[in-house]
Amino acid sequence: MYHGRLEDGKPARPILEPVRANRYIDSRDQLARSELHASMTGKNRTETRAHGVRVLFSRHSEVQRLKQEHRPVIHGTRAWDVSWLLMDYIGRCRIKPRSHVLDVGCGWGILGIYCAKRHGARVTAVDKDPEVFPFVRLHARINRVRVTPLRADFDGVSVRRLNDVDVLVGSDICFWDSMVDPLRRLILRAVRTGVRTVLISDPGRSPFGRLVEHFERRGMGRAFEWSTGRPRKIRGEILRVDGGTNWL
Ligand SMILES: C[S@@+](CC[C@H](N)C(=O)[O-])C[C@H]1O[C@@H](n2cnc3c(N)ncnc32)[C@H](O)[C@@H]1O
Repeated sequence: MYHGRLEDGKPARPILEPVRANRYIDSRDQLARSELHASMTGKNRTETRAHGVRVLFSRHSEVQRLKQEHRPVIHGTRAWDVSWLLMDYIGRCRIKPRSHVLDVGCGWGILGIYCAKRHGARVTAVDKDPEVFPFVRLHARINRVRVTPLRADFDGVSVRRLNDVDVLVGSDICFWDSMVDPLRRLILRAVRTGVRTVLISDPGRSPFGRLVEHFERRGMGRAFEWSTGRPRKIRGEILRVDGGTNWL
């Protein structure tokens, strides 16, 4: 159930392109279908699906296998709750097909995968920690989309990289004081380079509050509360900074 409101108080637009259930499964493959049903239901389920994307739990055998060799060290270890929040918001605004979306601090890359799958976006998944990319690849594969991985920290996303980017998104990436300034610089660089919209979601931690303050004080952006009921009740905040024309 949808609990959110657009920040300007207007009724949210409906999603225009609902995803067909199980479209990534060959309808002839009954075995795959029943295995998928088992993995998504009951106490021992090993994955979830919401906003049209499929996400494996840590106990899923493929995740377990990857974890033997790859250990993300800056919390890129799952799909964090506020990534669902931003998917819900983006679903109400829509991203134009073929837009270039940069998912910064992507972790497992689920937010970018959502933009590729539901909005037909071209996606670059950026993270400082190279250990997250095998998990990005796994989720891109099971969701049948392509994303381009890029190892970079916030300060390393150059003007050249931002040149053809339309939308910059990030979820749960401002949890330490040391992240505020690099993110502030990245957002400013993005908007000055021509990125049309920046969206960052957060549970409402104090470093994020300081990031928001910077943009709100200058009249460059604003934060608002958002909530979703999918895949469970989640509340948080979204910072939106628009550069020039409204793209979403
Ligand atoms: C809490 S996780 C969030 C992951 C994902 N966005 C989500 O919501 O599921 C934070 C992610 O930011 C990445 N990260 C932390 N500091 C970073 C930096 N300075 N530059 C780029 N990525 C960073 C971490 O490696 C990690 O994948």
